[in-house]
Amino acid sequence: MAAAPHNANPTGTYDVTHLRVEHYNGDVLGIGESQPRLSWIYTETPPEDAQLKVTVTRHVLGGETRTEETYLPTEPSVLVPWQFLPLTSMEEVRASVQLVTPNHEPLGAPSQTLRFETGILDFYDYWADFVGPSWAEPETDHRHLPLVRTEIDLSGKPARARLYMTACGVVEAEINGQRVGDDVLCPGWTVYDRRLECWTYDVTDQLIAGRNAMGFWLGDGWYRGRLGFDGGRANFYGDRIGVLAQLEIEYADGTRASVYSNSWDGTWKATSGPIVCSDLYEGEHYDARLEHPGWSQPGFDDSDWQPVAEVFYEPQHLECPELPPIRAHESNVPVSITRVDGTDMNDGTATWLIDFGQNCSQRMRVHMRGLNAGDTVTMRHAEVLEPDGTLATRTLRRGQQCDVYTSNGTDAWWEPRFTMHGFRYATIEGWRGELTADDIDCRVYHTDMERTGWFDSSNPLLNRLHDNALWSMRSNFLSIPTDCPQRDERLGWTGDIDLFAPTATYLYDTQGFLTNWLKDVRNEQKAWGTVPFYVPFVPLRVWAIPQAIAIWGDAAVAVPWALYMDGGDTRVLEKTYPLVTAWIDEVSGYLSDDGVWDREPQYCLGQLGDWLDPSAPPEDPALAMTEKTLVATAYFARSCAHATAIAHALGRAQDEARFAALTAKVTQGFLDRFTHLDGTMTSDTQCAYALAIAFGLLDDEPVRKVKAGNRLAELVRESGGRVSTGFAGTPFVLPALSMTGHDQEAYGLLMSTECPSWLYQVTMGATTTWERWDSMCPDGTLNPGGMTSFNHYALGSVCEWLHSRIGGLQAIEPGWSKFAVCPQPGGGLNHASTSHLTPYGMASSAWSVDDDVLALDVTVPVGTTAEIRIAGVEPETLGAGTHHREYTL
Ligand code: BGC
Repeated sequence: MAAAPHNANPTGTYDVTHLRVEHYNGDVLGIGESQPRLSWIYTETPPEDAQLKVTVTRHVLGGETRTEETYLPTEPSVLVPWQFLPLTSMEEVRASVQLVTPNHEPLGAPSQTLRFETGILDFYDYWADFVGPSWAEPETDHRHLPLVRTEIDLSGKPARARLYMTACGVVEAEINGQRVGDDVLCPGWTVYDRRLECWTYDVTDQLIAGRNAMGFWLGDGWYRGRLGFDGGRANFYGDRIGVLAQLEIEYADGTRASVYSNSWDGTWKATSGPIVCSDLYEGEHYDARLEHPGWSQPGFDDSDWQPVAEVFYEPQHLECPELPPIRAHESNVPVSITRVDGTDMNDGTATWLIDFGQNCSQRMRVHMRGLNAGDTVTMRHAEVLEPDGTLATRTLRRGQQCDVYTSNGTDAWWEPRFTMHGFRYATIEGWRGELTADDIDCRVYHTDMERTGWFDSSNPLLNRLHDNALWSMRSNFLSIPTDCPQRDERLGWTGDIDLFAPTATYLYDTQGFLTNWLKDVRNEQKAWGTVPFYVPFVPLRVWAIPQAIAIWGDAAVAVPWALYMDGGDTRVLEKTYPLVTAWIDEVSGYLSDDGVWDREPQYCLGQLGDWLDPSAPPEDPALAMTEKTLVATAYFARSCAHATAIAHALGRAQDEARFAALTAKVTQGFLDRFTHLDGTMTSDTQCAYALAIAFGLLDDEPVRKVKAGNRLAELVRESGGRVSTGFAGTPFVLPALSMTGHDQEAYGLLMSTECPSWLYQVTMGATTTWERWDSMCPDGTLNPGGMTSFNHYALGSVCEWLHSRIGGLQAIEPGWSKFAVCPQPGGGLNHASTSHLTPYGMASSAWSVDDDVLALDVTVPVGTTAEIRIAGVEPETLGAGTHHREYTL
């Protein structure tokens, strides 16, 4: 058993990498923190007497540039408090860090310079107004969308120019005919009546001395577009859209100029543009004949445009974004393009079917060529095909994701602006001539988070399962965490992210994204008196009045906890503490005297329990085998335990004691009501045993725990490899089997390809995680249920077990300062590996089995320790570095 030497530092230099500010990934404009924390990663353990030199160069708009330095101990290196005077609005910082000796001699290269800048920090620094169309628009949706423009004179070429922009609606800007930024669907979805994100763009290079023009495309977006199912709700936040644009300029001589959108100086004008209508779910209609060539360039004749009207929005609700924007990532190249039989028209057009090989949130950019003015090209999108090879659009319900382009006779590349589609297949109708891959660029969209988690194994099906979960996450992390990206829903269902959060936080850096969303969970909790089913909340039919329901409401505690375990940031806990405590206090009022949550929520669906239990009929997904009160009580016991740990981390001793007592009471109620002395339970289901074991509810009853584990293993064996759990039980069956020594049963269930199972989906060609175990039936037909999606991340929560048990990485301390390496070979795998970019650097575990010898390679980042915990192997603590171990099995 040979250990590779660690910290050998052959080059003798101690470098610092990955300098970042707060939870932003790399350079960032427009942050809202005046005292932002910095983090960095050491490539080698610094010498004991080393110091860290922090250099910041700061520049306030129109002010002087100052460089400041300070020296710090080398630890901590994560979320280190701001060491200088607080930043003010619109202040630019260039920061770098370097390891130095006590005499301040360099020990290694300085980090790359990180550039960040505050946005508008005080509401009274917003001088711009929201402006939009001044004509009477129809009250329904599908409104003809406006363009807004203005021209400005600049006394010189700006040395620095920033556009601060947001909208009631969605917006894209152009300056002098050129697109501003590379994000889409700005400003994203928040609870607009409480807060709205204002985004910052560097437009220095786009402005020139003299005359300049600015133009804005405006769309309905989430603000006044139709949201949700069963007909949905339009105009939910308001029925008038408008853009806020504030341009702040600094010239080389330090003088400043500002431009503010407004309705009173007569220079801001609007007219209707080529987007005839656009709906996030239904698609976009564009008529190129209605374009205004040159409209965002200076000198354009806008004499027939109308003055804009002001749209009122409280400036106090404007905020700097904590999350990254939505951006295009890679393009999916078609794997097949076929002319659809029988679609040839007399006018020479035909319909083509394209398979992009990957289901996800994406949009096609199409080369509209060879069309005559007035020719129409229709693009439809679907996740799967019906058995007859046609697009399966029934499951999209109202969200038909259909774009229509009408040509003006000129060739052009076109992509819709204010809609998003979830699909793998598309048809293009009305196409002239051959359609080739060169005519289409299909771009993948999601919030631009940093990838932090990887998994690989010797089983290609398992790897595909992992990829599918990753794709479902990417597809649904679009401004908020949604349930699905395709049908008329796309809502921030709280239960789905409750279950998926541990997987999500491993795969991507979600700190900013989820903290941002949690702000709205709190806003809605205050507004509606409980945690609504989905956030932002929109009253829809049966779901019109939020009710406290388990799992969905428990997201108020589970998501902050998952963020904390991954990122170790107590500030996230502080920010979310009111949400956590209000949920615990609310539900504790619903408990029976014995601590069981058996009060029925006041709406027809009641607790959703083990939602989508595979034995439930297609039209009644809540009809599960496991008692709903059992599920609700188990989840609440877990929330109470998490709340106790959160109160502890924040030093709130009184709350900690209160929550600990509540945990004990609810746990006891659970044991008394739902478990028997022989280890069996009132619901003899996999879900029931899994929750009892995985939530630690049997930890004080070791004998019962062993028996419950045995019964769970027996049920799993009896099920013949078919999954028997829905949303609630699924994430915890495999962990509960592992915790009670039944890894081989866990592998048996995971590796099964029977329907329903995780790998069944994969063998059916899934490229994302399905909503239902059998969204597609074995004969290739679609599940008849009206609620059938092929892109829900919830059941992908199994990946947590892939990471923590197959790959074997598990955080012990919040933020991974201490973690376990506990892989369990099995399932016929001969190798597996996983890695995670922790706040301290990359942690990894890779193993292979050959002739009864288990070889293990571990990477431990500087600043952390790892504990090897493998059954039958002497535990060992590892320090920073790379380590190789071999064990005879
Ligand atoms: C959503 C789910 C959600 C559920 C709750 C569905 O329509 O797609 O993922 O959690 O409703 O009832």
